[in-house]
Amino acid sequence: MAILKIKTAGNPFLKKKGVEVSKITKDIISLTEDMIDTMKAAGGLGLAAVQVGILLRIIIIDFGYLEYDKAVEKGETPKEPEFKPVVLINPVIKSDEGKTSIMEGCLSVPGYRAEVERASKITYMYTDINGKTVNAEEEGLGAIAIQHEIDHLNGILFIDRISNLKRNIAIKKTKKHLESIKEDGDKVESALYG
Ligand code: CO
Repeated sequence: MAILKIKTAGNPFLKKKGVEVSKITKDIISLTEDMIDTMKAAGGLGLAAVQVGILLRIIIIDFGYLEYDKAVEKGETPKEPEFKPVVLINPVIKSDEGKTSIMEGCLSVPGYRAEVERASKITYMYTDINGKTVNAEEEGLGAIAIQHEIDHLNGILFIDRISNLKRNIAIKKTKKHLESIKEDGDKVESALYG
């Protein structure tokens, strides 16, 4: 178990694509455990292997937070979100519908948020950590999170989906933010997404 370094905007590595995982080896399992630790430490909702410098199609999503968000949306008053990380290997979106947008954040773009248009509902497929194929659907925040993470596997950051001007501001803000953290000796501010 280890906390991995998350690459940040401006690093050309984040433009690379992940390749499909052909076999779930011990090394892959160990990588996903490290990714879970890393996401938890950073306070993220999701994390893609490309963000930690591994070019494989693996993402982690905290479904505990999604359940919490669904309950809040329904007007319930849930307790604190439980941490329920799920490993999605070779995730693929099968269909999408509708449009939605929220202010997104990203662990690779700390200190910046922007509104991004996404499909509001998706059906998707992935291989779980035991090698089983899973078909599922998600709407709202869950659909947004999965689209955001799959984008990472294709070398796309959420700031690539906004205007060039805003994108440049985001990269500058990220650099400044990281410099200020170094000066303060603070931990990276938690971002809701991954
Ligand atoms: Co992200």
